[in-house]
Amino acid sequence: MTTKYILYVCAGLMLGQGLAKPADVAAAMQTQCAQCHALKAPAPAELTIDRLWQRKGPDLYYAGSKYNEAWLVKWLQDPKRIRPAGEFYFKHVKTGAKEDVVDESTLTPHVKLSKDDATAYAAALMQLKGAPDLVEKGSYKQQPGRAAMAAMFFNKLRGCSACHQSASGAGGLSGPELYTGGERLQPDYIHDYIKDPQKFDPHIWMPKLGLNEADLQRLTGYIVGLSAAKR
Ligand code: HEC
Ligand code: HEC
Repeated sequence: MTTKYILYVCAGLMLGQGLAKPADVAAAMQTQCAQCHALKAPAPAELTIDRLWQRKGPDLYYAGSKYNEAWLVKWLQDPKRIRPAGEFYFKHVKTGAKEDVVDESTLTPHVKLSKDDATAYAAALMQLKGAPDLVEKGSYKQQPGRAAMAAMFFNKLRGCSACHQSASGAGGLSGPELYTGGERLQPDYIHDYIKDPQKFDPHIWMPKLGLNEADLQRLTGYIVGLSAAKR
């Protein structure tokens, strides 16, 4: 039995016994999650392309500025693939006859949590906010009518679907799917991410598309609406 395994069991027992005080949850996440996810903001000098290449899961140190808590609770109990090729794309695709295909054999399922643990971990994740100006509160204005034509913007005019799926199986593979984006993500985060992806990581390969404010509002409204329709 490895030390790591013993730590897992201890963390599991602590939570199982209802000792889920914030400090205990933070310690458990350190053992169960931190080997794949950054729970603390890296120092600016650590934000290298190498870190991005080597990271095993998306950053969670600004989780509280990014996710809807109800989605976290649900997903942590029953994780569904968000990045079609896992973390990250370039490591899990092979050349197919016409285009790149995902090499499923290299992907492993995500750890599943019990309802109690998912609730406690989600609450702890919501406390992680990142830099105070990372996401601007109220940047998405939610004005009616903006969603019109947005599908065409997403799929044709602004090229988002080259990397993102707006319906299961429809769209690119290199970015996270966005058909559950409205359920998963806070609208202000969606807006600010599209506006300037490099604010979240200087080396992330989503291009800064230089969209005007009307386009940003329209696309954000579209993504929010994608999963709203399925709720
Ligand atoms: C072995 C590595 C690994 C471990 C351990 C791990 N994760 Fe993950 N996690 C991933 C990967 C890879 C993804 C991306 C999955 C996807 O896109 O479908 C992910 C995705 C997530 C997401 C969704 C993020 C997003 O924006 O798409 C959350 C939330 C999350 N993990 C939380 C946790 C928590 C909490 C723990 C600890 C209980 C944990 N993870 C442990 C690898 C890991
Ligand atoms: C060249 C590929 C590419 C294009 C084109 C692209 N994206 Fe992205 N997008 C990405 C990648 C890669 C990420 C970040 C993945 C990560 O952190 O794991 C991302 C992240 C996002 C996120 C945050 C999602 C999340 O789960 O954190 C949103 C929202 C988004 N993109 C919307 C758009 C929109 C809208 C467009 C079109 C205007 C677009 N993207 C164009 C590759 C792309």
